[in-house]
Amino acid sequence: MHESDILIIGSGAAGLTAALNLAERFKVTVLAKGAMNEGATAWAQGGVAAVLEPGDTFDSHIEDTMIAGAGLNDRATVEFVVENAPAAIDRLEKLGVPFNTEGEALHLTREGGHSHRRIVHVNDATGWAVQEALLNAARAHPNITLVADMVVIDLATSRHEARYSGAGNVWGVYAFNRAANAVELFTARATILATGGAGRTYLFSTAPRGATGDGIAMAWRAGCRISNMEFMQFHPTCLYNLDVKNFLITEAVRGEGGHLKLPGTGHRFMPDFDPRAELAPRDVVARAIDHEIKRLGLDYVHLDISHQPPEFVRTHFPMIHEKLLGLGVDMTTQPIPVVPAQHYTCGGVVIDRAGRTDLPHLYAAGEVSQSGLHGANRLASNSLLECFVFGEAAADDISANWGDLAPPPAIRPWDESRVTHSDEEVVIKQNWTEIRRFMWNYVGIVRSTKRLERAARRIDMLREEVNDYYGHFRVTPDLIELRNLLESADLIVRSALHRKESRGLHYTIDYPETLDAAIDTVLVP
Ligand code: FAD
Ligand code: SIN
Repeated sequence: MHESDILIIGSGAAGLTAALNLAERFKVTVLAKGAMNEGATAWAQGGVAAVLEPGDTFDSHIEDTMIAGAGLNDRATVEFVVENAPAAIDRLEKLGVPFNTEGEALHLTREGGHSHRRIVHVNDATGWAVQEALLNAARAHPNITLVADMVVIDLATSRHEARYSGAGNVWGVYAFNRAANAVELFTARATILATGGAGRTYLFSTAPRGATGDGIAMAWRAGCRISNMEFMQFHPTCLYNLDVKNFLITEAVRGEGGHLKLPGTGHRFMPDFDPRAELAPRDVVARAIDHEIKRLGLDYVHLDISHQPPEFVRTHFPMIHEKLLGLGVDMTTQPIPVVPAQHYTCGGVVIDRAGRTDLPHLYAAGEVSQSGLHGANRLASNSLLECFVFGEAAADDISANWGDLAPPPAIRPWDESRVTHSDEEVVIKQNWTEIRRFMWNYVGIVRSTKRLERAARRIDMLREEVNDYYGHFRVTPDLIELRNLLESADLIVRSALHRKESRGLHYTIDYPETLDAAIDTVLVP
């Protein structure tokens, strides 16, 4: 058994921000299911949105966020995040993030849906620099213990108390230690879920392999409400390549003048769909590309920035330029083949502005959560920002209420007395692939009730199989992820079936209109 003051699941932007804000007063343990830098944070390219340009205003960033979110955002939350953005950037600079500058000021790039230059960045690999700075600070802090390769299975709640209190508290987690091949118990007065999104429920996704919705699934199983899971964001420009399936081409390429064109004719098609052309919000651009690909039977469309001077392209996008050269594409002279791919989970565990979930002692921050910031579609580069603001908000609330957070009682150890080793690992691989394929085909960019019902029937069938497997065999990391992937897929499909309109990222041919009232989907366990 491992005990700390505060337990954080996830070592990305949200988890480490919370850890650094708590460590002056408390002993903090941070768990990650693989290496400490394997989440989406390290993969972020474009940057972090903040009002820093002369002439830009908080009101304008708030409006842009609400427009992208199709009115479903919680305005007070949007204000809270936008107004805290400049301070968050300031703290990152103090931690040593080497943001690009232009003279004395930070260099700001532009992305879709933003009416101003607003994105601070480190070339085209912002996330890597942010992850490194946060990790270095956490490693250097004597009160922070970082534990890699610890796959959390479930929350330890009042149901697991040695003497059941019936209170519904969260006291920590059970986690599978890859090195020891055994399940261990971690307890704490407060637990923060910072486990990222559920992108890998889809066949094509820009998200890292571990984005299997673990935190969302375990919070749901423990009794938290889950909201707005139908709003899965598809990024318009993922590289189309038969070998490299999930490499993002940052929206900043369009922000710096890149055009979307049809292969063959070279026709620039976005102005046909929206007056904002390539800089319309992501849902609009992704749907337009999907429409053209289906209408013309294409494999991909082209993203072309070769009209900009080669030096401009190389200096703005050094990482992408080099990666593409290795794949035989010179973006200074050639267009890049791109397709939309799943990119971001807008829905998640319901939290308030202090990061509190429905369960006492449990907080959530970052992509795992539904804070009210994104509404029906996330505005570009608002996601890392949300991690910084809510990582700190959760830490502040824990510090302020420390006296009321009782220490954990005795918790029962993990019980493996009725399970054996699996004899058919192939079941896991088969089910994993099946889920991702039907989610892509039936629950993608354009939906219909019939397709969603097909997906729901498959989920019911697989659930029986996965539950049976989980009930009889020792857990493995793959089985833990499969169980969560299926739970996440179920939450997405149920939410999508529940919404009888098209709004933001949820577009269904059966209900193409947007209703007057913007109402969150809230699933109650
Ligand atoms: P993550 O950084 O994803 O971290 C999740 C952590 O949880 C990991 O440490 C993981 O190991 C751990 N974890 C998960 N499950 C378990 C488990 N069962 N047990 C133990 N640990 C677990 N957003 C922007 O704002 N700007 C951008 O430019 C941008 N670019 C992006 C580019 C790409 C390619 C992608 C995929 C996303 C991008 N995003 C961007 C989105 C943004 O990167 C993420 O939303 C954000 O980093 C999420 O941070 P997080 O801390 O919530 O989770
Ligand atoms: C990108 O660089 O296009 C990703 C930005 C984001 O997801 O916010």
